[in-house]
Amino acid sequence: ESVEWSSEDVEKGSFDHYMRKEIDEQPTAIAQAVRGRADDGRVAFESLSDGAFADVDRVQFVACGTSYHAALYGAQLLRDRGIPSRVFLASEYATTAPPAGDGTILVGVTQSGETADTLAALRRGRSEGLRTMAVTNVVGSTAARECDETVFIRAGPEIGVAATKTFSSQVVTLTLLAERIRRDVTGSHSEAAPELLDALSELPSAVGSTLADSSAESIAERYGDSDAYFFVGRGSAHPVALEGALKLKEISYEHAEGFPAGELKHGPLALVTPNTPVFAVATGAHTEKLLGSIEEVSARGAPVIAVAPRSEEAVAEAADDVLWVPESHPELVGLLANVQLQLLSYHTATLLDRPVDKPRNLAKSVTVE
Ligand code: G6P
Repeated sequence: ESVEWSSEDVEKGSFDHYMRKEIDEQPTAIAQAVRGRADDGRVAFESLSDGAFADVDRVQFVACGTSYHAALYGAQLLRDRGIPSRVFLASEYATTAPPAGDGTILVGVTQSGETADTLAALRRGRSEGLRTMAVTNVVGSTAARECDETVFIRAGPEIGVAATKTFSSQVVTLTLLAERIRRDVTGSHSEAAPELLDALSELPSAVGSTLADSSAESIAERYGDSDAYFFVGRGSAHPVALEGALKLKEISYEHAEGFPAGELKHGPLALVTPNTPVFAVATGAHTEKLLGSIEEVSARGAPVIAVAPRSEEAVAEAADDVLWVPESHPELVGLLANVQLQLLSYHTATLLDRPVDKPRNLAKSVTVE
């Protein structure tokens, strides 16, 4: 397929930073990822024939950095549909590939399509006879050329080193892919869940209202002088917690970590003090357990900032502050929460006067192993 990138797409326009512009472009990016792929209650990819996944019994993902978090999100959606799925850091997979059978498909998630670790992992799988697929933003990239199949995320060019809109586009594409794999595996009669497809078509406007109505800047100011920042979530909120922490450390150079909420008590709690705000990502699933984690950190004096839809009343009440996200399908709320956390990172970094688009020691795409 051809995906047009215009010269306007690579200009900053009225924005101070590419990152801020690319955060703002997410409604369009998401609409492009969904366009033509979820019509008439069916999920279809231009490049894949009907029944393309009928023989798949296991999905392995390989990825690095932000793409690894998008892959974790996608794998969770597949497991929720009964499809065994695991995610591996590409650098680890390239040295120690896990066992795989004939029905395994190896999916490389890489916005650039050029990350050396991810390419090495895909080549390793291919050399062992696995079917390979690239989920990428770049037409003609090495991953797209070398894999058996490719699905494009259609995010448009991303210039800021810290990935933002490509994460959202990957999550949306992987959501569609999960539905598509489920349909092929279970037989073509079972169509996609209508509520999920409706929520996907409404997602661009939900992201738009998240952006228009965010208090991330004042939260960044309020907690800007902290020792460290922690992010917790369960289920699909876990990769969002990891991504929130990665984004903050990449561009603000502040110490930030993400944990699955249940692991707090197995170690990270030792770091929690009144000067370590904890961002609790709530999606509507596992609320009771998340409340338990909030209690654990509140008892140690840590301020809690919930990232939650209004229906999560108990979570909002237990928290000191809230970054609100619009109501959506439970599988997509995490993506909206991530938009708030992108803004939080952006404002924290600009308050500290960091070079947001080109953080020290990092590269947009790392082409060495
Ligand atoms: C670099 C970038 C990250 C990115 C990672 C994977 O480390 O700094 O932002 O997530 O590469 O990139 P990819 O192109 O494979 O998605």
